[in-house]
Amino acid sequence: MNRRDFARLLALGGAAPFLTPGTAWPRPSDLPPTPAMPDERFWSAVRDQFVMPKDLTMLNAANLCPSSSPVLETLYRVTKDMDQDPSQDNRAKLGDGRENTRKLLAEFLRVTPEEIVITRNTSESNNLVSTGIDLKAGDEVLLTADNHPSNHTAWQEKAKRFGFTVKDIPVPNPHPGFDYYVDAFTKAITPRTKVISITHLTSTVGDLFPAKEICRLARERGILTLVDGAQSFGLFDVDLSDMQPDFYSGSAHKWPCGPKENGVLFVNRRAHAAISPSVISLYAGSVGISRTLEAFGQRDEPSIMGFGAALAFQQKIGRRVIEDRARELTAAVIEGLKKIDGVKVWTHPARERSAAVVSFQPGSLDVRTLNQNLYEKDHIVCATRGGTDRPGLRFSPHFYNTHAEVDRALASIARYVRTGSGV
Ligand SMILES: Cc1ncc(COP(=O)(O)O)c(C=O)c1O
Repeated sequence: MNRRDFARLLALGGAAPFLTPGTAWPRPSDLPPTPAMPDERFWSAVRDQFVMPKDLTMLNAANLCPSSSPVLETLYRVTKDMDQDPSQDNRAKLGDGRENTRKLLAEFLRVTPEEIVITRNTSESNNLVSTGIDLKAGDEVLLTADNHPSNHTAWQEKAKRFGFTVKDIPVPNPHPGFDYYVDAFTKAITPRTKVISITHLTSTVGDLFPAKEICRLARERGILTLVDGAQSFGLFDVDLSDMQPDFYSGSAHKWPCGPKENGVLFVNRRAHAAISPSVISLYAGSVGISRTLEAFGQRDEPSIMGFGAALAFQQKIGRRVIEDRARELTAAVIEGLKKIDGVKVWTHPARERSAAVVSFQPGSLDVRTLNQNLYEKDHIVCATRGGTDRPGLRFSPHFYNTHAEVDRALASIARYVRTGSGV
C-alpha cells in the first residue's frame, strides 16, 4: 500500500522517477530489501542513499537531518516540472500531491487524513494549538518544565495575553521514571486544568515522557493534550491511535529526513471543534480539519511531495527497524562515554526513559571550542549545550549513522578529554 502510494506520488510529475542528467548528485544504487537481521553492510547501503561525504559524521539528528536521494530527486523533479510550466493547469496535480502526502502522514501516524494538517514545522504546529484553543482567565495549562520555547514560552506569552495561567511540572535529572510523571500530573490537575502540554522526547537530554499514560489521564478528566513530537516523529514507530493525544506536532526536517520547512499537526477528530484557525487565506487542504486549519495561502507543493517521499523511504526500510537502529547506536554512545574518565552523562541509559539523544559533560573542556574542533578537525557534527543546566555536548545518532562513525566520535572525545589539547 505504501509502495503503491509512493509510486503514484512519483508518477505525478510524469517524468522518470529518478533524474540523473542535470542533477548535482550521482544516483545511488537501489536500496536492497531490509534483511530480517539488518547488519552493518545493510546500514552502509542506507548511508549511501544520503549525499553527505563519507568522512562527515552527522550526530545531530535532534537538530536537523539530511534528506535522502529519493527525497532530493522528488524535490528536483517536481520543482522543475512546476517551473517549466507554472500554469494553474499544470500545477493542479500538485494539489493531488499534497493530498497524497496527507494520506502518507495519516498512515505513518496511524490516524486518518481528515485529522492531518500539513504545516511548516513543529513550532508552527504548537502555536496553532496554543493560539487556536479558546482559553480565558481562570483556566490553567500544565506543562513539563523541559519544553522547547514553541511549546513553553509560547504558552506563557499567550497566558499573559488571554489571562489564563500556566504551571510547570518539574523535570528532575536523572529521569525519575514514568510513574513519577503520572503521579506528578495526577496531583497537579485541578478543576481549572484545561490543557496538558508535554514533549514526547526532550531535545535537551533525551528524556522520554509517558505520553500515552498522560493522555489517558487527561482524557478521563476532559482535559486537552498537546504532545510535541519534534523528537519522536520519524524516530519512533509512533502510533497515535494508541497514544490518543488531542494534538501531536512534528517537523519533516528532523528525524523523518524530509525537506526543510514542512511539518505536521495531528488534530484528533474529537478535538476538531475545540480549535479555530489562526491563519485564514486560500488554498486549504481538501479533507477534514485541513479544510479550515490549513488555508495558509500558496505553498511549496514540491517540498510537501518531498515530505511524502521521505515518509515512504522510512516505511520501505521499516519504522521499527529504524527506531531499533537509532537506539542501538545510542546505547553504544552511552556505553562508550561512560568508559571515558571525566565524562558525565546526563542522559538516563534505560530504554524506557530515553532514546537517541545523549547529552554529556566532557570533563572541564570548553564545549564551544571542543565542538568547533570536532567539526573542523574531525568532521564530526554535534550540538553544544551552554548554560548551567546539564551543560556539555549532545550526540543524536540516527539510522544513517554507522557503528564505525560512533566509534570514531567516541575516540575523538576520549582524545580531547585525555589530552585537553587542540582545545
Ligand atoms: C522538542 C522540540 N519542539 C519543537 C522544536 C521546534 O522545531 P522546529 O524548529 O522544526 O519548528 C524543537 C526543535 O529542536 C524541539 O526539539
